[in-house]
Amino acid sequence: MSTIRLIEEKDKEEWINLFSGPDGYLVFYKSTLPNNVIETTFNRFLDKDEPVNAAVAIDDSTGKIIGFANYVTHRNTWAIGDSLYLNDLFVSGESRLKGIGRKLIEFIYTEADRLKCEKTYWQTQFENHRAQLLYTKVGEKAGFLTYKRPSE
Ligand SMILES: CC(C)(COP(=O)(O)OP(=O)(O)OC[C@H]1O[C@@H](n2cnc3c(N)ncnc32)[C@H](O)[C@@H]1OP(=O)(O)O)[C@@H](O)C(=O)NCCC(=O)NCCS
Repeated sequence: MSTIRLIEEKDKEEWINLFSGPDGYLVFYKSTLPNNVIETTFNRFLDKDEPVNAAVAIDDSTGKIIGFANYVTHRNTWAIGDSLYLNDLFVSGESRLKGIGRKLIEFIYTEADRLKCEKTYWQTQFENHRAQLLYTKVGEKAGFLTYKRPSE
């Protein structure tokens, strides 16, 4: 069994390990980030004045963090209420296919309601079929492509 809750200061080491450690989220994306970015992101989760937050999934039997959902809220020109953007979703390799990803997204929906966000959305890579098997059950395809400013 697992429990989903908002992130707390005591989670720092485990969250950083799951985010950027050897079997973590950044490795899944074949990416790295400088330590000061990771530290700043974590500190923002704890700062009530920052629109950045995270939920963590805890394995009830070990008390360890086995997943997270990092999210930001922001203004939207099409609504009075804010939007919630699910920035990162991750479940550790050995804990997958047990409903934890679904529970994290459902928790995010509850957060969106609490924060009076009128829209909740996220993006995924075209080739991430595994994630899409979950997303088609808990969400609906928005039908937009994402573009970005070219890298220098
Ligand atoms: C995507 C990810 C978060 C999903 O987490 P998870 O805990 O394994 O997901 P869940 O067990 O809650 O949900 C999986 C759902 O998809 C379905 N599913 C997943 N893989 C499947 C497969 N190979 N065949 C059939 N169904 C599958 C399951 O049936 C389940 O549906 P259900 O809730 O109705 O039973 C996890 O795989 C992960 O962290 N992947 C690496 C990082 C990543 O891709 N993050 C998302 C970036 S956008």
